[in-house]
Amino acid sequence: MATLVVAPSMGAQATTPAPTKSLPQRIADDFIALYGLHPGYRINHAKGIILTGTFTPTPQAKTVSRAPHLQAPVPVIVRFSDAGGIPTIPDQSPYTTPRGIAIRFTLPSGGYSDIVANSHNGFVVGNGEDFAEFLEAVGATKPTSPHPNPIEKFLGTHPRSLQFVKDPKPMPVSFANEAWYGNNAFIFVNAQNVKQAGRYQILPVAGQKYLDSAATVKTAPNFLMDEIAKHVTKEPVQFKIFVQLANPGDPTSDGSIVWPNDRKLVELGTVSLTAVAPNNAALQKQLAFNPIYLDDGISLSDDPLVTLRSAVYALSVAHRR
Ligand code: HEM
Repeated sequence: MATLVVAPSMGAQATTPAPTKSLPQRIADDFIALYGLHPGYRINHAKGIILTGTFTPTPQAKTVSRAPHLQAPVPVIVRFSDAGGIPTIPDQSPYTTPRGIAIRFTLPSGGYSDIVANSHNGFVVGNGEDFAEFLEAVGATKPTSPHPNPIEKFLGTHPRSLQFVKDPKPMPVSFANEAWYGNNAFIFVNAQNVKQAGRYQILPVAGQKYLDSAATVKTAPNFLMDEIAKHVTKEPVQFKIFVQLANPGDPTSDGSIVWPNDRKLVELGTVSLTAVAPNNAALQKQLAFNPIYLDDGISLSDDPLVTLRSAVYALSVAHRR
């Protein structure tokens, strides 16, 4: 059985929900309570690096969606990140999972469309209330807490969260060797107005490659960020973006329920990253990726996490600016 890895409380106690506090505000405050205040940084996925390149769609992408970036090549901006709100966290820490990828497609209209995905297939919870309870249980669990402690109690009543926590989360050799999952469902609409529910899977062209635990402990604190910055000067860092289409009856409203592997995967195209973005720190502060930034041809499903995430991300943006 894999080790149970849950980020410990790194700051003050998680906040007790005030009755008047909105759910997004409660979750934003929970992140700050867990990780401490780091002005100028994201309250989650604080440590990252931005690369630039191109996305080239496949001919079959347009069968799924009429979105402009799925018809012809467009520039992309991609941010790789470690999980958690600590901007100096060592990359090899177990609390950096799931790692993140945020992809911004720059559209011919001048607008943009985002994908915000992470390195785990299936999110820890399926709705915002459970996420707040999860963060607060982590915050309330101390080494001295009697068993069952708050996080054990939460995981005892949320079997998919327990599975998420127990799943192995090996350290990739490079961000270029990690697989990424959108987890939340969107509705893809093609030119004939055919609508299909799907979730993104973003798979490394160089293959998934992971370090064992002995090799992981020998890595340097910034090894993932440093490696990808050097890597991209030698060869393009490439990912194929797929959409996993739901079968009739597959739940679209709960990102913690993983759809079976036999569901149809449609290859949408290839991201090819060729440079580290100049002025990286300033750009990271300025750029705000958001899963709700969509375009004609991709729309929201009944998954409640997307709009909830959007509201919390907006609070995080306000915090860092
Ligand atoms: C209740 C659910 C979630 C909450 C409350 C949440 C919260 C946050 C917050 C506050 C940020 C910082 C945003 C910013 O300052 O720009 C963030 C970043 C991020 N989140 Fe989430 N998140 C949730 C679920 C997810 C899921 C399901 C995924 C992926 C499947 C994900 C992937 C990411 C990534 C990749 C980033 C970094 C984005 C960037 O590079 O700017 N999150 N999240």
